[in-house]
Amino acid sequence: MKERFLTADKLEEDKFDLSIRPETLNEYIGQSELKDNLNIFMKAALMREEPLDHVLLYGPPGLGKTTLAYIIAREMGGNIKTASGPSIEKSGDLAAILSTLEPGDVLFIDEIHRIPRYIEEILYPAMEDFMLDIIVGSDSTTRNIRLELPPFTLVGATTRAGDLSGPLRDRFGIVSRLNYYTIEELTTIVKRTSRVLDCGIDDKAAVELATRSRGTPRIANRLFKRVRDYALVMGNGYIDLKITKMALDRLKVDKLGLDDTDYNLLKAIIEKFDGGPVGIESIAASIGEEITTIEDVYEPYLLQNGLLKRTPRGRMVTDKAYKHLKIKKTER
Ligand SMILES: Nc1ncnc2c1ncn2[C@@H]1O[C@H](COP(=O)(O)OP(=O)(O)OP(=O)(O)O)[C@@H](O)[C@H]1O
Ligand SMILES: [Mg+2]
Repeated sequence: MKERFLTADKLEEDKFDLSIRPETLNEYIGQSELKDNLNIFMKAALMREEPLDHVLLYGPPGLGKTTLAYIIAREMGGNIKTASGPSIEKSGDLAAILSTLEPGDVLFIDEIHRIPRYIEEILYPAMEDFMLDIIVGSDSTTRNIRLELPPFTLVGATTRAGDLSGPLRDRFGIVSRLNYYTIEELTTIVKRTSRVLDCGIDDKAAVELATRSRGTPRIANRLFKRVRDYALVMGNGYIDLKITKMALDRLKVDKLGLDDTDYNLLKAIIEKFDGGPVGIESIAASIGEEITTIEDVYEPYLLQNGLLKRTPRGRMVTDKAYKHLKIKKTER
């Protein structure tokens, strides 16, 4: 499969992004309401010498959930242990991770909605009472044993809060949605990346990059690196507006940050379904994407940008979408 450049999912190269990942709450840009609240909750927990309440972070990929989990661990002075929903296949997997926790640790579980329900139940007493119930032995000799866990903070991340079971969701004291970043915030992130990577960018170029980043820091940073390459090879290394526009056009990143899939999706609704309303299943089938990917990754940005709207009868493209795609709306 062709690697999609604008994808907000993690690519191999993002693993080397550790240097541009903010390490403290102060360096973390945007999400100000969440940040202000977390700041208070963390301070209070530190004053009480207790761990921070469990935190659930949800929202589209690349908005900084993992980054925030690391920041929480650092600010609370604990270590972070990480796991992801799909990697927890047996109850023993989860028990093994829980039993390595030390007082004040943060346990970060990415894609937490993908833990199977029967395993999830192990988390309930762990979160509520710091207890781990395990079954040992087999057949006639099985017994339940309870182990005490040190006080810890679970930070869960998910792109699909709706897929989390009620009981699990209820056990998080802090539940917060991450929102797409504004152009101003992304501009600040781009400038910060420019400083960290020691590669200059002018103000207009930074705004242009931010505008085309789909509200997503991960994409802003990735575009920054590509534009930097063009500036180095085709200019003098400094990123100005001209080189930015040229590079982004060549990379086929559109003015609103839309990529091929966004286009296909909007076009399919217009051409095959008369602009809608049409159900998500039909859209998914017609463009060959998973429903969940459309719902988690594509749709939120298109909705936010006013290119798509949701009605009780399905999704509809808006006049803005017709205009943006330069397709004339036919009267029905
Ligand atoms: N608030 C922020 N300020 C500055 N940079 C940020 C911010 N949030 C995220 N980033 C940058 O964006 C990158 C992606 O963030 P992160 O990996 O935390 O996203 P995520 O929400 O965990 O995504 P996923 O759902 O795919 O796991 C980080 O490496 C970091 O450099
Ligand atoms: Mg993540």
